[in-house]
Amino acid sequence: MKIAVAKETDPSEPRVALTPDVVKRLKGLGASISVETGAGLTAGATDEAYSEAGAEIASSRAAALSGADVLLTVRRPAPEGVTGLKPGALVIGTMDPYGAAEDIAALAAANVSLFAMELMPRITRAQVMDVLSSQANLAGYRAVIDAAAEFGRALPQMMTAAGTVPPAKAFVMGAGVAGLQAIATARRLGAVVSATDVRPAAKEQVASLGAKFVAVEDEEFKQAETAAGYAKPMSAEYQAKQAELVANHIAKQDIVITTALIPGRPAPRLVTAAMVKSMKPGSVLVDLAVERGGNVEGAVAGEVVEVNGVKIVGHRNVPGRLSASSSALYAKNLSAFLETLLSKETKELAVDWDDELVKATLLTKDGAVVHPIAKPAETN
Ligand code: NAI
Repeated sequence: MKIAVAKETDPSEPRVALTPDVVKRLKGLGASISVETGAGLTAGATDEAYSEAGAEIASSRAAALSGADVLLTVRRPAPEGVTGLKPGALVIGTMDPYGAAEDIAALAAANVSLFAMELMPRITRAQVMDVLSSQANLAGYRAVIDAAAEFGRALPQMMTAAGTVPPAKAFVMGAGVAGLQAIATARRLGAVVSATDVRPAAKEQVASLGAKFVAVEDEEFKQAETAAGYAKPMSAEYQAKQAELVANHIAKQDIVITTALIPGRPAPRLVTAAMVKSMKPGSVLVDLAVERGGNVEGAVAGEVVEVNGVKIVGHRNVPGRLSASSSALYAKNLSAFLETLLSKETKELAVDWDDELVKATLLTKDGAVVHPIAKPAETN
């Protein structure tokens, strides 16, 4: 079985789908691995490191993909980006499948089986394959580091001969995977941390990290979690109550990190322009939801905007800002999934198309689009 890894074609994507330590593991399972020259450089992995781990270095994308059974990727390749793979080859990565029906149909026509890792069920067996968690965790950490870098003051309290520096006040909105890591990181840096979420389960998790929980805890809040553990969209009435509570709280904060998302919908708007205006000059907001519509009014994807002396940070691809760490975890997520698609005896692909992990993530097979979310709207 030949596994191919190529340089990501999006120039703003510094991550790589396979790192040298994971190459070693896959070699141990009997695979041969071909890595396009320079594919790992922006994630700190040199050709030499891949070679030492047992990979072949290919001089071009075409050479890496030629005759491969599997292509591992960070982002969905363009339809012409899978040329050279074996017919029916597996392409595994994050596929951003919403609203991409045309490209996914073209990839189906190119006769590859496309797997979207972000659709992996969040069940115990698949925890090790959960790319959303591995990347969100690092994004939550990095959001605090980015906030600290933009903030013109110290985060911890410091008592010096020249006077006392007060601790910064940080508020984390959305206490899922990214938010909980942001809370832990801000606490480690010495900030006084509070957090909010609409899921009641978040309350205890926030408290266990030593942060104060701030939320409207009415009947609707008690029902706000879906069976899958995600947030539900809240009613206009709840949002108004939440906004009032948050408005008073935000005016006193130095740093606000927003991470709130609702699967398959635009991010909820949690911070209005008026709330931003109420903050002291020098305060910093980091909007981790900016690429999904934004939690903060005025946030711009890819930019740091300043409004009345308050900075709104809207970096894209925040996990990519820690590309070595995010690639290392991502590569482990991918290889853990790939291992479930192999036969230990023959060391060849042996996909169980009825497996629930395969069914949940498979977008295309045998020339057709097979997943409802990737089909054109009229056939849904
Ligand atoms: P997410 O990325 O979809 O959303 C982030 C957070 O925003 C969530 O906590 C959500 O409740 C919150 N949110 C949504 N609307 C909001 C609003 N109006 N105001 C404030 N907060 C709002 O969620 P993520 O991080 O993927 O995790 C969701 C849940 O799934 C968490 O409980 C997490 O611990 C759990 N989880 C379970 C896993 C497993 O069992 N294998 C793996 C990963 C996460």
